[in-house]
Amino acid sequence: MSDNRRKFLKTLSIGAASALATPTQIWAQAAIPLRSALTNLKTNATSEAYWETVQSQFRFAEGLTYFNNGSLGACPKPIREATLNFRDTLDDFPSRYMWGGWKDEIEAVRQKTAKLFSVSEEEIALIHNTTEGMNLIASSMNLQAGDEVISADHEHTSALNPWKYWQESKGVTIVTPTLPLLPKSVDEIVAVYRKAITSKTKVISICHLVNTNGMILPIKEVTEMAHEKGILVAVDGAQATGMFTIDLRDMGCDFYTVSAHKWLFSPKGVGVFYARQESQHHLQPLVVARGYEDTSIRRLENYNTRNLPEVLGFGAALDYRNAIGGQKIHDRTYELKHYFRSKIEDNEKLVLKTPELDSLSAGIQVVEVLGTDVKEVKNRLFDEYGIDCRPMSKFGLNAVRLSFAIFITKKQVDTLVSALATIAG
Ligand SMILES: Cc1ncc(COP(=O)(O)O)c(C=O)c1O
Repeated sequence: MSDNRRKFLKTLSIGAASALATPTQIWAQAAIPLRSALTNLKTNATSEAYWETVQSQFRFAEGLTYFNNGSLGACPKPIREATLNFRDTLDDFPSRYMWGGWKDEIEAVRQKTAKLFSVSEEEIALIHNTTEGMNLIASSMNLQAGDEVISADHEHTSALNPWKYWQESKGVTIVTPTLPLLPKSVDEIVAVYRKAITSKTKVISICHLVNTNGMILPIKEVTEMAHEKGILVAVDGAQATGMFTIDLRDMGCDFYTVSAHKWLFSPKGVGVFYARQESQHHLQPLVVARGYEDTSIRRLENYNTRNLPEVLGFGAALDYRNAIGGQKIHDRTYELKHYFRSKIEDNEKLVLKTPELDSLSAGIQVVEVLGTDVKEVKNRLFDEYGIDCRPMSKFGLNAVRLSFAIFITKKQVDTLVSALATIAG
């Protein structure tokens, strides 16, 4: 080695201590902020004090109480710090990590994601969001004029528009059944899908938890019915994933798309795309780049230069989730749901417009304040109490949509309920 090169390497290793470390060392370094946070969370405790500790690990604008996780998730402080570290590492030595330097670390994120859903890592692609996942499915399908795709009236535009754009112009029909707003049983919803199926149906595109009123749709039952008739099932899991336990192998659907930046609390712009092995042959990449010949599911996430620090940040978010425990998060979601519902049930002016059964709703509840316009309720909640939520007008809901994420405490629910009661008059 020349003297100059030796000098250069020495300077490099002094100037940027992390620059010549291995990716594994850098991962360990970047994950330091996570460690102490995770240690505090790894207990069997489920008390309110425990959830207040969780709350303290999130940060919001001063005075803000965030009941709007369904619009966009919050990201805990340790995950933000870890992600910043990943960004710094990348920018300290840009060419090193983007095209292979973080290969093992990205594969580790894929494995953790597969575990979250009880599937194989060969069925998981790390994409950007649900919108992309639904486009990937809708653009891939080799449908013919006269074929039908079922997409019910509560589907999000990100799940409906891809079908319209990629398939309707070919003469494919989008069939739009009407869902009940307050079903009393799973069968009521299955019956709607059963009625919508014809001999021309090729795909059922279905939301796991609708963004309008928080209703859960019965994916397993609809899939069983669809598969008996050779129909594929594509699921929009944007709102469901992270809120409660999901076993995709058991649910049986063909495709499932996720926005990790909602209920998995990851950095923004990270999504998951699941395709079961048996159904992967239907898919083609949305973006074609170097490595497109790869026959594994990785070909669907290959954008060349992309947001890898955020993908690693998503891995940190999964560590965070695992430290608390998926079952504990599931139970807390339902605990908050029941706490909220029980607190407003005696007030006749506060009308719940989300189905009651646990199989039909979880961490999103919508409520109408009778005699008021929802926009006024939304504005007063924010202006007078610093509470952020989403107004929902569609389907005559006239109701505020409230998200009960793990950083919400019962004290905050009490404040919300008292604010709603005051506004109701
Ligand atoms: C049910 C549902 N699907 C899809 C999306 C789109 O999510 P993203 O913008 O992360 O792709 C949303 C966003 O709110 C949603 O609620």
